[in-house]
Amino acid sequence: MSNEVLVTCELHGAGARRTMVLRLNRPKQLNALNSELMDQLGAALLAADGDAAVGCIVLTGSDKAFAAGADIAAMARKTCAEAMAEPFITRNWETIRQVRKPVIAAVAGFALGGGCELAMMCDFIIAADTAKFGQPEIKIGIIPGAGGTQRLPRAVGKSKAMDMVLTARMMDAAEAERAGLVSRVVAADKLMEEVLAAAEAINVLSPASVALAKACVNKSFQGGLDDGVDYERRVFHSLFATEDQKEGMAAFLEKRKPEWRLR
Ligand code: HXC
Repeated sequence: MSNEVLVTCELHGAGARRTMVLRLNRPKQLNALNSELMDQLGAALLAADGDAAVGCIVLTGSDKAFAAGADIAAMARKTCAEAMAEPFITRNWETIRQVRKPVIAAVAGFALGGGCELAMMCDFIIAADTAKFGQPEIKIGIIPGAGGTQRLPRAVGKSKAMDMVLTARMMDAAEAERAGLVSRVVAADKLMEEVLAAAEAINVLSPASVALAKACVNKSFQGGLDDGVDYERRVFHSLFATEDQKEGMAAFLEKRKPEWRLR
């Protein structure tokens, strides 16, 4: 184990809740994702989720690469028995799914293979006009292994997902926006400014309603429509037990800013 910092953490903003920017930091390897990096990322995500001063989390990489995939050098000799025993990916890739706060992916450059899958595990993706998305695993004799075959069709539809997974072609930022993979595309030199503004718009809201809105949207991907709508309704009703709902609505009617009480 080295002491290399593979994920840097930086707090932005000045309000009661700020934005934690987590930056993947293996620039020479285009942020190829190895186990050590994923352990550091998981720890940083959980720490930010547990920190009351953090409203939103942003996950980003470098100008050239969000992440060019799982580290091929680290995987090349792995046996099936080793992959199952670890268990590879399952052990430390999906910590992000436990995070209740919004996680925004800020993607510039390559988001390939596990990098594309990691971006899709975030709640939404804002892309620089330099972004390139792809699931090229088929070219190295494997398939996407961190949810790509499941999340990509949900994001872009079956036909485009099959096209990308089977031909390994990359999608540029404009196509990714048209297809619904990313929520917006911005000029590369404005990426962090736009992402931090989006995060700030969320940071001033009631943390309870933000976390529950995220949970409800995620629920829509997990089961049938009826289950999702029933779940949403129960959560919606329960928010009427909070002081923040009373405050939020009163502030609107009184034409003033709400003062969230976090209750
Ligand atoms: C390990 C990687 C890497 C990766 C790039 N590098 N991607 N190392 N794993 N996934 C390394 C290169 O070996 C090289 O190291 C350095 O980063 C710069 O990369 P270049 O190839 O020289 O850069 P460029 O010519 O600009 O090409 C960029 C690229 C290409 C198109 C992104 O690097 C590429 O095709 N990378 C692999 C993409 C891929 O197949 N991803 C899927 C991986 S499998 P040196 O030492 O030579 O300078 C996967 C499985 C997910 O993600 C399953 C679950 C997690």
